[in-house]
Amino acid sequence: MRKKVTIVGSGNVGATAAHWIAAKELADVVLLDVVEGVPQGKALDLLQAMPIEKRDCNILGTNDYADTANSDIVVITAGIARKPGMSRDDLLNTNSGIMASVVKQVVAASPDTIIIVVSNPLDAMAQAAFKHSGFPRERVIGMAGVLDSARFRTFIAAELNVSVENVTAFVLGGHGDTMVPLSRYSTVAGIPITELIEPLRLKELESRTANGGAEIVKHLKTGSAYYAPSAAAVEMVEAILKDKKKILPCAAYLQGEYGISGLYVGVPCKLGAKGLEQIIEIKLTAEEQAALQKSADSVKELCAVIGVA
Ligand SMILES: NC(=O)c1ccc[n+]([C@@H]2O[C@H](COP(=O)([O-])OP(=O)(O)OC[C@H]3O[C@@H](n4cnc5c(N)ncnc54)[C@H](O)[C@@H]3O)[C@@H](O)[C@H]2O)c1
Repeated sequence: MRKKVTIVGSGNVGATAAHWIAAKELADVVLLDVVEGVPQGKALDLLQAMPIEKRDCNILGTNDYADTANSDIVVITAGIARKPGMSRDDLLNTNSGIMASVVKQVVAASPDTIIIVVSNPLDAMAQAAFKHSGFPRERVIGMAGVLDSARFRTFIAAELNVSVENVTAFVLGGHGDTMVPLSRYSTVAGIPITELIEPLRLKELESRTANGGAEIVKHLKTGSAYYAPSAAAVEMVEAILKDKKKILPCAAYLQGEYGISGLYVGVPCKLGAKGLEQIIEIKLTAEEQAALQKSADSVKELCAVIGVA
């Protein structure tokens, strides 16, 4: 039997995630939204691309959680996105209300599912989903680090004129201005980038990474990035569905790892059939640890505002 992935929120990120899942023939997809007609229309349109793409996936659009029953994975993209001049944190109150109602219905329909949270502000929304679901931390994971490190990898590959496939990059911390790109652990074909790029230039690439979302919002004016964010969420979906044991930077609920407790923060995670299977702890310098703590502190403030600290 095919796997089933529900995507809640059929806007830019949600619909494009459905597209990537179908293109990779990973699972049947249920696209859900509060707006009547939008998920139905997008799902039918995508379904009609399947004969051309030679993919056997069923894609259903709905407004009814009954159709999402027994999903293997639920990706939550519901909420509002940033407009120019807005920070991710500006979305807090609206999206936390949406998250509470969505999670309740997701859990009722799919009590054994694994939730991947995409809505912003990411770390606080992952924490809200975790608290509202009552799930163990293994089954509520936030997507941010895969996107942030993909942005860093893109800039490094362009800088050195090498294949993106040769570049691995490491980003820790919350999904916001306080994220911590770790150049020390980023490599090109195994060579640390600190040996290939001058420190000042590297700082510029790190800063462009931390502001990568805002750069796209500024271009688009009416919304935020969605191709890379949805591809990033689907990389996590694939790692789980195929039990790949893949190490990816994700927002996970820390219980003492990295000296942080009771909070979602971006760290290297192993994803497999059980969801979050392991948090990988690496040795940080005092400066990196302080940057991670600062990032965690800002996540904690947001969580306190919405009562999920
Ligand atoms: N984690 C990341 O790295 C990352 C990256 C990009 C975007 N995002 C976030 O993802 C979210 C979605 O972005 P987008 O560009 O797709 O926005 P969008 O406005 O295109 O789509 C959001 C969709 O959610 C739907 N929605 C609203 N309330 C709902 C509810 N209660 N139930 C079901 N659906 C509901 C809307 O009708 C809309 O179709 C935003 O919060 C954005 O900030 C996160």
